[in-house]
Amino acid sequence: MVDLPFTFTIPMPQVVPSRVDNHIERRLSALRGQFFDQETYHKMLSVEDQLIYEVYEIKRPEVVGELLMGISIVHPGKVGREFFMTKGHFHSVLETSEVYYCLRGEGYMVMETPEGDTSVEALSPGKVLYVPPCWAHRSVCTSRQEDLVTFFAYPANAGHDYGTIERQGFRKLVLDGENGPEIVDNPRCQ
Ligand code: F6R
Ligand code: ZN
Repeated sequence: MVDLPFTFTIPMPQVVPSRVDNHIERRLSALRGQFFDQETYHKMLSVEDQLIYEVYEIKRPEVVGELLMGISIVHPGKVGREFFMTKGHFHSVLETSEVYYCLRGEGYMVMETPEGDTSVEALSPGKVLYVPPCWAHRSVCTSRQEDLVTFFAYPANAGHDYGTIERQGFRKLVLDGENGPEIVDNPRCQ
């Protein structure tokens, strides 16, 4: 039997989709080794394993032709000077892309290719971001109080490769500077 078209809503300002099959919560402990200020990271973790971000997924079969959609919510906060962020990943099927649409908050998408190209795009409500094939991506929330909320859609067969990023992090970091967010080189990648 063919699948039937369907709709769902993303009510504002709550942004939890009316149809959700999976709710993922990622806490500070899931980002082990990723924040540049490791001393502050371990201090914070010893106090509380804080909730850093959440994903609401609408499930589809993970096959060519299908799209996976959902909502990603990165909460505001910092580890030292570095803003809260997602783990970030390449897609396992490297040549797959992704679309993000920012619904709320301020932040950045930090991106890079296996060859070392980098790109950091600002996100604010109404902005659409296209992540082309082969670009790893990580969302960073730079709002002081508000969540960074994005809608995403990507090929359902893409899969996630977290290991490459876990080993050395992204080449660019987003830090809180005197005049707002600063994009700096990651010393681990020099
Ligand atoms: C899917 C995708 C997003 C992220 C989400 C959480 O390919 O890019 O749905 O999965 O923003 O980030 P990660 O997966 O890096 O923990
Ligand atoms: Zn992705």
